[in-house]
Amino acid sequence: MNKRQTRLFAIASTGLAALAFLGLTVDSHRQFPSLTNESQLTPQVIAGKNVWHKFNCVNCHTLFGEGAYYAPDLTKIAKLRGEQYLTAYLKNPAQFYDEKRHRRLMPKQNLSDEEIKNLISFLAWVSNVDNGGWPPRPILVTGAAIPGTDLAATQQVQPGAQAPPGARPVSGDENPMALGERLFRSVTPACNACHSVAPGVNMAGPSLAGVGERAAKTIASPDYKGKAKDANQYIHESILEPSAHLVAGAMYSANGVSFMPNTYSQSLTPEQVDQLAAYLLSLK
Ligand code: HEC
Ligand code: HEC
Repeated sequence: MNKRQTRLFAIASTGLAALAFLGLTVDSHRQFPSLTNESQLTPQVIAGKNVWHKFNCVNCHTLFGEGAYYAPDLTKIAKLRGEQYLTAYLKNPAQFYDEKRHRRLMPKQNLSDEEIKNLISFLAWVSNVDNGGWPPRPILVTGAAIPGTDLAATQQVQPGAQAPPGARPVSGDENPMALGERLFRSVTPACNACHSVAPGVNMAGPSLAGVGERAAKTIASPDYKGKAKDANQYIHESILEPSAHLVAGAMYSANGVSFMPNTYSQSLTPEQVDQLAAYLLSLK
């Protein structure tokens, strides 16, 4: 190529790249309203976004991976934790800490009840944005930094993502325990976002290691107020009606209401609950 040809080549290729870039940008903008559920941007969601800015949550947290990396990403937190937990957490984060274990602390921000409601509806809106799987891994701070735990299992959760129906063909000979193990990671909200199955690893919910054995002791104790007669029934009750009996601890419940979502009685089929129970009963 001579000099003139080289110049032409450079100009033409730059032009082409610019065109492609422009085209893709316009296309993205065309898709934003549906990807972000623009129609669900209610005044409450917008008020919540203003609370988010007013208290500089982004100085410590990220949304969509954007912000500061001191504290966990909150893109899918509304789906992972549910309203009861988030309300209690935002009111007083300190009650959720074990200072020996959590070296990073979340300050108490003295948010009003209304600010908390607005924040939660903002975070719920954020959790519904189709972000194409970004950020790529769940950042579950509480308990997750402990070495030798079942972190590998936790990392398989796509926060908020449901296993697409029929994604993995279920063969007839697959046992309920194996199915339950998979449900534990794939239901919404995922059980393993709050529960570890490693002994002694208490995250947002207590460790479920040995839960069957513990359940037998629980229902035999005079403090037990639920209706279960054996460990299997106790686990069913815990999933379908979390507040029927509360595991002791200020970080697990407030005013007689468990922070575990009470939505599973609607979102799970009776077979799925049986499978989850079969899996949990197998945990030593
Ligand atoms: C000074 C830093 C800081 C600020 C500011 C801050 N946070 Fe946090 N936040 C943290 C840390 C650190 C954690 C994780 C604590 C732990 O290890 O469990 C956390 C945890 C959380 C959690 C619980 C996450 C979980 O996995 O259960 C929520 C929800 C949350 N923050 C929301 C907010 C909101 C909303 C704001 C603004 C109103 C805010 N935070 C402001 C530091 C901060
Ligand atoms: C947002 C966090 C959260 C999620 C998600 C969650 N749980 Fe829980 N779970 C808790 C908390 C907190 C407790 C303790 C308070 C109570 O007794 O309800 C608990 C208690 C339990 C118990 C009783 C444990 C014991 O020692 O007696 C079982 C069993 C259980 N959960 C199973 C499940 C299963 C199965 C799922 C998924 C279908 C699930 N949980 C999802 C937070 C959660």
